[in-house]
Amino acid sequence: MAADLHLDPTTGGFNGLKQLERTLPSRWYIDPEHHRRELEAIWHRHWIYLCRAETLPEARSFRTFTLGTQPLLIVRDEAGELRAFYNTCRHRGAALCSEPEGRLPAGGITCPYHAWNYRLNGELARVASAGRPHHVDIAGTSLYGVALKVWRGFVYVNLADSGQAFGDNFNANTEQFEHWPLEDLVVGHRLTQRVACNWKVFWENYNECLHCPGVHPALSSLVPIYKRGIMESRDDPAWQAHAGSEDPLYRGGLRAGARTWTVDGCSLGHEFPALTNEERELGYHYMTSLPSHYLVLHADHVRSSRLLPLGPEETELSIEWLFPRETLADPAVDIMRACAFSAQVMSEDAAVCEMTQRGLHAAAHVQGMLMPEEYDVWRFQQWIRAALGVS
Ligand code: FES
Ligand SMILES: [Fe+2]
Repeated sequence: MAADLHLDPTTGGFNGLKQLERTLPSRWYIDPEHHRRELEAIWHRHWIYLCRAETLPEARSFRTFTLGTQPLLIVRDEAGELRAFYNTCRHRGAALCSEPEGRLPAGGITCPYHAWNYRLNGELARVASAGRPHHVDIAGTSLYGVALKVWRGFVYVNLADSGQAFGDNFNANTEQFEHWPLEDLVVGHRLTQRVACNWKVFWENYNECLHCPGVHPALSSLVPIYKRGIMESRDDPAWQAHAGSEDPLYRGGLRAGARTWTVDGCSLGHEFPALTNEERELGYHYMTSLPSHYLVLHADHVRSSRLLPLGPEETELSIEWLFPRETLADPAVDIMRACAFSAQVMSEDAAVCEMTQRGLHAAAHVQGMLMPEEYDVWRFQQWIRAALGVS
């Protein structure tokens, strides 16, 4: 990322932008050629979140994905390890698995076209030919492998051999989330929707709360500082006037009496026992892994959101609500109190993202400008410029 011109110690800890910054060119949100450039420079070179490990529960479980333009296959092998491959046959390139998920037969991966057969580690086991294809190097013809890492139950892949180092994708020190038992959580509810916007429009909206008072009335009631159009106390140039205030309107955190992000602010119960009082009381913690993933961690559940670009003007948003097993096994708990609340917030965000995408088509709007509160939008846009090698 470029040097942060806005981190100026003489401004008393104010977070906001201190000079006029321009947005990215509108064309970058629409143009198919630019989109291809971003797929190559960003989506096909960075660590991308695909799914929870527990969604491939046993040996021979598989899932398929499309990352940008690239078809992928994830398999759990007989030893329990997850492996990622391009979903393509070494013979003439047919897709090996066409279902989104399932379980492979005991015989391994068999191409449905001419029955080439592969072991779960990707090795070619058999080719189908009446002749004797001695000229085919069976031992040297494995499925094309893709780098895969599991971080605390979250499965990431990277298509580039010399791409980003794993860990550099996280915006925060991940140790700060060690009190949440992330690897033990289970998906209790999932929502997948296509949003008619460029993927960057989604992240830009995620990175500011100027829109919160107008767009998210229920969320702004639950998190009072959002009513002020800011994310944290130092987003206000006059923040020192309220330094040390315990009022969530100035300090941040949930409104008095609320415990978590649910329709009534009440806890689902079975809160994570290892959290500190401070972690529990703030009520929400964010972790971002550009360009595909973010987590919001609460005292009783965690929400995982994944973005995948479907085209320059279409993005797939997939949200998974993760809970402790005890919560899902407890008949007295209605997890939809949490899911319905954040699904409403997400639908409000999706609507403004689609509205933005439509407006970006205006030929007169070559480029926009940022307000001081949009410092994280600026950081995101600097990250994009750096990834594309544009200053
Ligand atoms: S393309 Fe797979 S066996 Fe022919
Ligand atoms: Fe929002």
